[in-house]
Amino acid sequence: MKIETSSYFAASVPAAATSHVDRHQAALVRSVEKLRTTMPIIGIRNPKIGLSDNGWAYCSPYDWVVSFHAGQLWLASQLTGDPTFLNAARARRSIFRGILAHRRAQDHDLGFQFSLSCVAEWLMTGEKEPRALALEAANLLLGRYRPEGRYLQAWNAQPAHGGMRADFANGRIIADTMQNLALLYWAYGETGRADFREAADGHADTTLKHLVRDDDTSFHTFLFDPSTGDALRGETHQGHADSSCWSRGQAWLIHGFAQCARVTGNRTYLDAARRLAAKAEQLMGSDLVPVWDYDVPDPKYAPRDSSAGAIMAAGIYMLADQCDAEEAQVWRGFADRLIAGLLDTCDLTGDPAALGLLAHGAAHVGSGYSDTMLPYGDYYFMEALMRSLGHTQFFW
Ligand code: GLY
Repeated sequence: MKIETSSYFAASVPAAATSHVDRHQAALVRSVEKLRTTMPIIGIRNPKIGLSDNGWAYCSPYDWVVSFHAGQLWLASQLTGDPTFLNAARARRSIFRGILAHRRAQDHDLGFQFSLSCVAEWLMTGEKEPRALALEAANLLLGRYRPEGRYLQAWNAQPAHGGMRADFANGRIIADTMQNLALLYWAYGETGRADFREAADGHADTTLKHLVRDDDTSFHTFLFDPSTGDALRGETHQGHADSSCWSRGQAWLIHGFAQCARVTGNRTYLDAARRLAAKAEQLMGSDLVPVWDYDVPDPKYAPRDSSAGAIMAAGIYMLADQCDAEEAQVWRGFADRLIAGLLDTCDLTGDPAALGLLAHGAAHVGSGYSDTMLPYGDYYFMEALMRSLGHTQFFW
């Protein structure tokens, strides 16, 4: 077991966090209690998206979001030592065996899926099967690496995501994949096999070169010629336009580069996280919760995305932890502001009727999915609260 049970407070709360400690800690306690009280209702199902009464619609066992509830349960287990959380998280293991047995269920999201489930279980319990499952998933993710372009292909030409055509999926990278690299870095640490790390570094370098624009905004996706690896063009899938900046994509990149910097010590990745975070702060202006896309024509009336705020906050605390004290204080100030926005306008932790933690997420505005609870918003909200309180043990 490599992760020890902690308490709601980490051993040391950074000095710059003290003014927010009570509010953040109370929100974390409410989040854990919400997980506890909803456990009999949710059972071993896994939330996909909120319903209008703040119940959940649940996902298929192959969905990219399948691990976010498990991730929250593992965090709650770490915070409380209560075996109820551990058992509820562990009861989901068979889902992850199922993903490995089903070829069409496997895409770049193996990282999200296995880091927050099997890697978490291995780190929390030392049990061997979850470690083996996570290594198998890492091998499958590695198989998506295209050395000619130095990238991991995101999606499948097969209908894993609702009938995608080969010319849409092949050769495409997306911002979200930066979150999946943690599984490769973990597998490198476990096995010493350099190919895991080379693929993760290669993908991060390619993402920085092609998805991050010169003005520090980002494309959601970028397309390469699948046979030569030649760079073609940036496009969107979930954003407002090819040329726009989708706020959750920018958030995935901030958290992803901060994470890569933490694991590799590569300052180029840290600088990328800095640039992307500074741009997001500029684009948000006085907003407390990010608009779903920074380039929508009428941002004042457009849906917000609480998940983008939560992901960004978690990533910015991680960035702050890698900076000197003076710079860290600036970044923590921005992350605290994001958390304040979530607590002021999206917090459902005190609403007994709600099964999730945060309102006002935007899953896919173009398809009509906005103003809703999202399991990833909830997971990163807990991670952000914990990082703000000085916790350093996570599953990636
Ligand atoms: N990874 C898919 C999304 O962010 O919606």
